[in-house]
Amino acid sequence: MTEQLERSLVLVKPDGFARGLTGEVLRRIEAKGYRLVALRVLVPGVEELHRHYAEHEGKPFFEPLVEFMMSGPVTAAVIEGQGCIPGFRSLAGTTNPTEAAPGTIRGDLGRDWGTTVQQNIVHGSDSPESAAREIAIWFPGL
Ligand code: RTP
Ligand code: MG
Repeated sequence: MTEQLERSLVLVKPDGFARGLTGEVLRRIEAKGYRLVALRVLVPGVEELHRHYAEHEGKPFFEPLVEFMMSGPVTAAVIEGQGCIPGFRSLAGTTNPTEAAPGTIRGDLGRDWGTTVQQNIVHGSDSPESAAREIAIWFPGL
């Protein structure tokens, strides 16, 4: 049996980057056994964020979410390993950091800051289709 490789797109969002948590997030990814394939630090533009969050267009939190994501640098990463798409979602914990379980990135390191949009440190692709679409946005040509 050989490993069924899959890839996921991970973002350390502006809150996580500003708090110096990029290394901690990458440490947990590597400690879990996933491989780093690509890594970059950038301040996202409105165009790539509208593409990235297309599924949320029209929702009340969409514009505040885009504003938040443009507020500073993020770290974008492509990770690889069998089951890494659901596996990273498990590492991240549920969307609301107040409710996220201890032991997860959001549960251990996140909390409610009273902001319009939930600041929850990381993004992770939620399906193979999302992963392929998102990797093409943040790492064109990979
Ligand atoms: P992500 O896409 O960032 O990995 O997070 P997710 O799947 O757990 O959450 P999703 O439903 O896709 O929402 C995307 C991001 O939008 C922000 N959000 N804020 N009501 C709110 O204030 C609210 N709902 C969503 C969060 O930053 C969430 O991660
Ligand atoms: Mg999502």
